Amino acid sequence: MQYQTKRLQIRDLNWDDLTAIHAFRSDPIVTQYNDFESHTLAETRAWLAGCIHHNTIEPRTSHNCAIVLAHTGATIGWIGFGSPSESKAEWGDVDFGYALRQQFWGQGYMSEALTGLITFIFTTTAAQAIFGECEVANPASARVMQHARMQQVAHVSESDEATGKVIESLRFQIKKPDWQSLKPGQSHA
Ligand SMILES: CC(C)(COP(=O)(O)OP(=O)(O)OC[C@H]1O[C@@H](n2cnc3c(N)ncnc32)[C@H](O)[C@@H]1OP(=O)(O)O)[C@@H](O)C(=O)NCCC(=O)NCCS
Repeated sequence: MQYQTKRLQIRDLNWDDLTAIHAFRSDPIVTQYNDFESHTLAETRAWLAGCIHHNTIEPRTSHNCAIVLAHTGATIGWIGFGSPSESKAEWGDVDFGYALRQQFWGQGYMSEALTGLITFIFTTTAAQAIFGECEVANPASARVMQHARMQQVAHVSESDEATGKVIESLRFQIKKPDWQSLKPGQSHA
């Protein structure tokens, strides 16, 4: 896929993204609220190989993208969407994930990227509802989804299978008719 927002290009990952992707996958601050971490460049390479492969499968169900600063060409993060697991399919046709290199936090980039991604999904796919989740302990991610005009629809408590620790999460959702009724100018992208 290829999508342009005011400041960003969102495009399919490629091998030139390896170093930038490894920079945040190997940063424990970036990965503290997701299962995204790579301990070695080889692990990141394997993850990237999987993304590039899945992006080529037709019909297209998986989209793993680089977030690129339009004015410099630098890859600053990742955003992806795809079909949710069966147990969560009632919440939407599509869910997503994202992460940004730390030095680019707090400048509205992910709110802009997610707003653009939602526009791309509703204008180019058959999806009627999109949802996303974040830990309660990660308010920046909740704010990103609010900026993208998503509504909080659930507070979820789940036990982590590996540790038994209870994780509190928030679930956000946006439906196509609500997205269509947004007034021009309400969107960041
Ligand atoms: C979450 C993340 C993607 C946000 O990206 P970003 O580009 O910095 O986000 P934005 O600048 O678009 O918006 C962040 C918002 O959160 C707010 N915020 C940041 N830290 C916060 C905190 N500790 N408490 C409350 N709000 C916070 C910001 O003020 C901003 O809101 P505002 O525009 O109303 O002021 C980024 O921090 C990241 O990559 N984190 C690690 C990966 C991750 O957590 N991914 C999501 C897993 S669910």
